[in-house]
Amino acid sequence: MSQLKVPKGTRDILGREIHLWRRIEETVYSVAQLFGYQEIRTPIFESTELFARGVGEGTDIVQKEMYTFLDKGGRSLTLRPEGTAPVMRAYLEQGFAVHEPRVKWFYLGPMFRYERPQAGRMRQFHQFGFEAIGFESPACDAEIILIAWTIYEELGLKRLSLEINSLGCNHCKPGYIEALKNFFRDRSEELCSNCKDRLERNPLRILDCKVETCQTVLRSTAFPNLQDFLCEDCKKHQAELLQTLTALGIPFVINPHLVRGLDYYTRTAFEVKTGELGAQDAVGGGGRYDNLSQALGGQRVPGVGFAAGMERIVLLLQKEETETSSERSGVYLAPLGKEGERYLLVLSRVLLQHGIPFYTDFADKTLKYHLKRAQKMGIRWVVILGEEEIQKSVFLLKDMISGEQISLSQEGLLKKLQEEISGAENTYLR
Ligand code: HAM
Repeated sequence: MSQLKVPKGTRDILGREIHLWRRIEETVYSVAQLFGYQEIRTPIFESTELFARGVGEGTDIVQKEMYTFLDKGGRSLTLRPEGTAPVMRAYLEQGFAVHEPRVKWFYLGPMFRYERPQAGRMRQFHQFGFEAIGFESPACDAEIILIAWTIYEELGLKRLSLEINSLGCNHCKPGYIEALKNFFRDRSEELCSNCKDRLERNPLRILDCKVETCQTVLRSTAFPNLQDFLCEDCKKHQAELLQTLTALGIPFVINPHLVRGLDYYTRTAFEVKTGELGAQDAVGGGGRYDNLSQALGGQRVPGVGFAAGMERIVLLLQKEETETSSERSGVYLAPLGKEGERYLLVLSRVLLQHGIPFYTDFADKTLKYHLKRAQKMGIRWVVILGEEEIQKSVFLLKDMISGEQISLSQEGLLKKLQEEISGAENTYLR
């Protein structure tokens, strides 16, 4: 029988990579707590209609990338391709609009898009996201950007750039889309086949097409600039946001071609980019979505948020990872024989009580095997228990760095391990 494999565009996450995921998750939780955002967990699948209406019928996500299926009851369901529409659905469904109209929420978890997989682009990928619902002020847009910036900074990511644009509102966006359509209709022959298709369906998306012929069209001097179409209120909103970002010391560039792949954006749209991941250069993106609640059947509720791709952050962290971070703390328990296994299992309960992490290998192998394994795992301290030690009621402790070994009573061993293995590293076991 042939060997089974993970589905294309998905992967197992394990081994040395896991501590990077934990680091990101812990940073997200602690920054969320500092800013007063509460966690929300929505279902992995939702009704297909939620994304069709929320993300937009004309978007690539809805047209081409959704994992949609009928359940046994004939309902059309979709694995969530993003988190904002589900969060707004929860907000409306739970009656927050009436009882607690202003909320600040964050989430973490897998998302699904049927895309062509490549480094940093997966079919199952993970995002963390922050959403502030009920706030009109541009200061809230700035807070969302500050949260993103704080997390990237906290993780030690360098050389990131923040690109910002304003997509206008219900008053000024339609005028711009009309101008765009007129501009592109005259030049439709020069557009790639994908963009020809987008021309009527979603002309804004042509703005971030990477195909060279489309890029040439976009560079034309007659190209209508979104910034020129903004109404007074949108201009004011953008000016205030940029002023606040400057006061916060967050550097940005205005990119009038930044449009994002989801239809719900109004006014602020932004992306955080890196120069180190090739084509998949966005490590996060977001913006304001003041029309989303109405698209989902609710009253008008303003909102702003962002989400970041965790796979891409892991790739960046891996580039900077040092050897030492893969070392494990704690102690390797090496039993020589069945009796040794039993005694060491009893010892492990005592270690637990003292918060000392351990790893016991029940392979029933030689000392040579155990020492090699401990070395491979990066564990410095090895407790060896063979027949001789059992007879003398002692444990042999080997320091893999100096090569020294000493015989210790249980009490002596505990004392030594407590001294050597720092308390901070152990607290999670207590
Ligand atoms: P998005 O730009 O579609 O926005 O995704 C946010 C981030 O998720 C991207 O910048 C990227 O880092 C990551 N990402 C997206 N697709 C993939 C993929 N196939 N593989 C790996 N990473 C990926 C949203 O999803 C919005 N919900 C963000 C938002 C929240 N806007 C307002 N609130």
